[in-house]
Amino acid sequence: MGQMIPDLSLRMATEARANGQKQKKQQVQYDPYFTEKVIAATGPSAHPRLAQVMPSLVRHLHDFAREVNLTVAEWTAAVDMINACGRMSDDRRNETQLLCDIIGLESLVDEITSKMLATSTTETPSAILGPFYRNDAPLKPNGTSIVQGLTPEVEWYEKALEDSAYVTGRVVTAAGAPIKGAIVDVWHTAPNGLYEQQDESQPDMNFRGRFETDSEGRYAFYALRPASYPIPDDGPAGQFLKMLDRHPNRPGHIHFIVSAPNFRTLTTQLYDDRDQYIENDSVFAVKDELVVHFTPREGDPEARWSLKYDFVLGSM
Ligand SMILES: [Fe+2]
Repeated sequence: MGQMIPDLSLRMATEARANGQKQKKQQVQYDPYFTEKVIAATGPSAHPRLAQVMPSLVRHLHDFAREVNLTVAEWTAAVDMINACGRMSDDRRNETQLLCDIIGLESLVDEITSKMLATSTTETPSAILGPFYRNDAPLKPNGTSIVQGLTPEVEWYEKALEDSAYVTGRVVTAAGAPIKGAIVDVWHTAPNGLYEQQDESQPDMNFRGRFETDSEGRYAFYALRPASYPIPDDGPAGQFLKMLDRHPNRPGHIHFIVSAPNFRTLTTQLYDDRDQYIENDSVFAVKDELVVHFTPREGDPEARWSLKYDFVLGSM
């Protein structure tokens, strides 16, 4: 449909020119030359990438407006919403990004970017970074835990015991060779669905850690099976979700950034296959290759579940 509309408007414009002004008015509801006039306003010294992409953006936007007969009142409402997103955004919250997320734009752009840069078909797919990354998580020895402050007083103590998990695997090249010295940077929420910076009851850097792979490319740490959580829905993006009769929930996931010298850094997420929102993630980030299955773990007092996952990094 998206590709048909520009063709349609071009055809209509050509026909209108051929048939004269009177017939044009009968066949074409809106000025058929308007969009090309806007595109032609771009000057010869325009930023090269903008000069390349803006004709397409203007055509799609104008075709959208004509297709739905967008009114001034509706356009004003959209402008107000984007302005409200801007007013709500600061260094702790990015409401405009959230708005893009719920219409799938961040996931789509992430897929386009990673596929453009891919050097093999075996690389682990990327997923969006999300707004809760902190770049200075503690570097920990392999086999240690990212869970802090777990005492019976914590409200999610039982849930944390139930979901305790040992996560291990390797970081390898597209050809399967181990990558020594790769950094596996990991973070997830508490069982209450909150990242530590959203939740004053959690210790600083809780559920965050970085692990360096050994000579076999192996990493290992204790964590929890991830909990689903709603994206912040108390702002314009959340209001928009309600107007669309949609829920705000994301399936439980563990975030990763896997990096190594001379390899392309991988930003991704792993999704627990038990989660009820796997099929309807509110930000459309789930990919089949990133859905994982935890298996029961025997004989380990620190973990009831195991997960094995190998990350395949692409070359630069
Ligand atoms: Fe997340």
